[in-house]
Amino acid sequence: MKKIITLLIFGIIVFSCKKEKATDPIPDPGNEEILLDIPQGFPYPYVPSDNKPTPNRIALGEKLFFDPILSRDSSLSCGSCHLPNLKFTDGVPLSAGISGRTAMRNSMTILNVAYQPYAFWDGGVPNLEQQVLAPIENPNEMDFDVNLAVERLKNNPEYVLEFQKSYNLDPSVYTLTRAIACYERTLFTGKSRYDRLVHDGDSSALTISEKNGMTMFFNEEGDCFHCHVDYNFTDYSFQNNGLYLVYPDSGRA
Ligand code: HEC
Ligand code: HEC
Repeated sequence: MKKIITLLIFGIIVFSCKKEKATDPIPDPGNEEILLDIPQGFPYPYVPSDNKPTPNRIALGEKLFFDPILSRDSSLSCGSCHLPNLKFTDGVPLSAGISGRTAMRNSMTILNVAYQPYAFWDGGVPNLEQQVLAPIENPNEMDFDVNLAVERLKNNPEYVLEFQKSYNLDPSVYTLTRAIACYERTLFTGKSRYDRLVHDGDSSALTISEKNGMTMFFNEEGDCFHCHVDYNFTDYSFQNNGLYLVYPDSGRA
């Protein structure tokens, strides 16, 4: 009898162990870190250790970037001012915010933004994660409270699942800003006609007058290359380039 009971207990243990194994989470390839697809001639950018790129994070960030859920009246997304077909700018002198308001400046491209040592024309924000807060809270842009934006995401079961799949965490200010920044770090230039000439040696990629312009750009006559230098055509410095006598926007000053 004792033997049978022991066997029974043993059987139950083995059986329950097996059952536990069967419900182990199936590894999701979408959670595995991937390498960014860097254009030829560009270095690998800095990526924060708590926000390594994975397919799930990038997809979530992209969805958030184009979702008006982050603006107070759900009318504007990040993509409303950073349009993919305009190189992620909006092509106007001053960007249009919600309720007919006007932003203080224009939206610059966010292609190659992974390399920026700061964000904004005046360098006012130190990194991409923190930058996400600015347009959401800016009264002239999305005019919302980031905590209320997070509440909306928490009430959306699809988003909750996607945040879990990406960060093993619920929607929060931390995960919202990380997901969008993760997506932004995948946006590069490269593969332009200029790149074809420089990296593929395709001498027919530019017209004669474009080549003349390029020569001027890179010599003392045009003198552009001192500031517009390297793969990203910038040295990230702040300069008074003397365009106006009086600046209505004092910028970094
Ligand atoms: C109403 C238009 C508008 C919306 C909406 C908007 N932006 Fe912008 N964005 C701008 C403007 C204008 C600037 C430049 C601001 C400045 O320099 O003062 C900018 C700058 C940026 C920059 C800095 C790029 C660089 O090179 O320094 C990033 C990154 C960015 N936006 C991402 C976002 C994200 C993410 C969202 C959504 C959460 C968003 N934007 C929503 C207009 C907008
Ligand atoms: C002293 C440094 C300097 C030199 C030299 C210079 N630039 Fe610039 N350039 C800048 C700065 C700084 C900005 C950003 C200005 C701003 O905040 O609006 C800029 C902006 C630009 C832009 C707008 C970029 C954008 O994203 O909107 C273009 C185009 C440009 N420069 C072309 C040129 C050309 C062409 C030359 C040569 C004829 C030249 N630059 C020489 C510093 C320089």
